[in-house]
Amino acid sequence: MTAATITPSGAGAGQRGQPGPGLQPGWGVSPERQQAIAEVLGALVPPAGRLAPTQLRAVTAGLAARHGLWADLVVRDPDVRWYLPLHRSNSCDVWLLAWECGQDTDWHDHGGSAGSFAVAEGCLVEQYRAPSGRRIARRRLPASEAVAFGPAHVHNVAHGGDGSATSIHAYSPPLMAMTYYSATEYGLIARETVAVDGPEGARGRGGVGTALAAASASAARLSPDSLPADAPSIDELLAEARSGLARLRPEAAFAVLTDGAVLVDIRPLEQRIAEGEIPGAVIIGRNVLEWRLDPRSEARIPPLARADAQIIVMCSEGYASTLAAATLRRIGLREATDLDGGFQAWKAAGLPTRPAQPPG
Ligand SMILES: [Fe+2]
Repeated sequence: MTAATITPSGAGAGQRGQPGPGLQPGWGVSPERQQAIAEVLGALVPPAGRLAPTQLRAVTAGLAARHGLWADLVVRDPDVRWYLPLHRSNSCDVWLLAWECGQDTDWHDHGGSAGSFAVAEGCLVEQYRAPSGRRIARRRLPASEAVAFGPAHVHNVAHGGDGSATSIHAYSPPLMAMTYYSATEYGLIARETVAVDGPEGARGRGGVGTALAAASASAARLSPDSLPADAPSIDELLAEARSGLARLRPEAAFAVLTDGAVLVDIRPLEQRIAEGEIPGAVIIGRNVLEWRLDPRSEARIPPLARADAQIIVMCSEGYASTLAAATLRRIGLREATDLDGGFQAWKAAGLPTRPAQPPG
């Protein structure tokens, strides 16, 4: 089971603190405590620059051993995984996490960050992708154990043992994005990358005062000044593309497939593996689509690259397919359109699907 994670300002938050160096207000760590943590870190690692995994291990193990710095801050919540940021600088961020039975993170990496975590109380179990390739390794980490890893590390951390667990996590540079993975028979397949404001499975559920909210506000402030006045937003671009297409719902698309239309699946392999495929669909990667379907292209697929070809572009949910179909119209394929709702709507309609076919 994957438990949701709340921000410290959410229902499971502990005490509220005052703003301090490096952390947003309302995050529950007093300035005095932040100062004490910063002093401990200052004795362990350099104050600036990217920290190596061994340095991050010194941070997490050092703080995990100092219960007085964090033990009174922990909130135990059996329903929602709880965390609290303890420290943030340009070089690293440090987090306090609590774990209850059944809680885990799902498979993920840490963007471009190296990391470490130390078990301070209880026990955690880490599954991780072995550096050699597809093999999955597993290690049980009782209290006082600490592990460290580079940016390529992909893992799934879970509560282990009987009682509650507590851990200290550190990342360098500070954690900004995580990619989630699906465990498939082909190995771990990247599923999605999300911006995060918390560690180990926090999925961008940021509220007012969180790092994510601050980053979003900053981006919103930048946009009007930094973009050309006539540049359409992606929503406007999508609406414009859709205004020129007679999009097909799955049932209508299924009906015309027997009439000479061709369904073109532009989803990447990892998405087809995770979601499944549609029998009879032609797979053409989005990155080569126009070159395969332009009748003037040397790389064209002759039976499909015709001005009157009834191409129905399909992606997962029917967004990227719209833009692709509009581009095909621009290069002269006047019958091109896309599948409204994509593979997800097709599957929901009960139309035929099958597991992805093995590569090669
Ligand atoms: Fe992680």
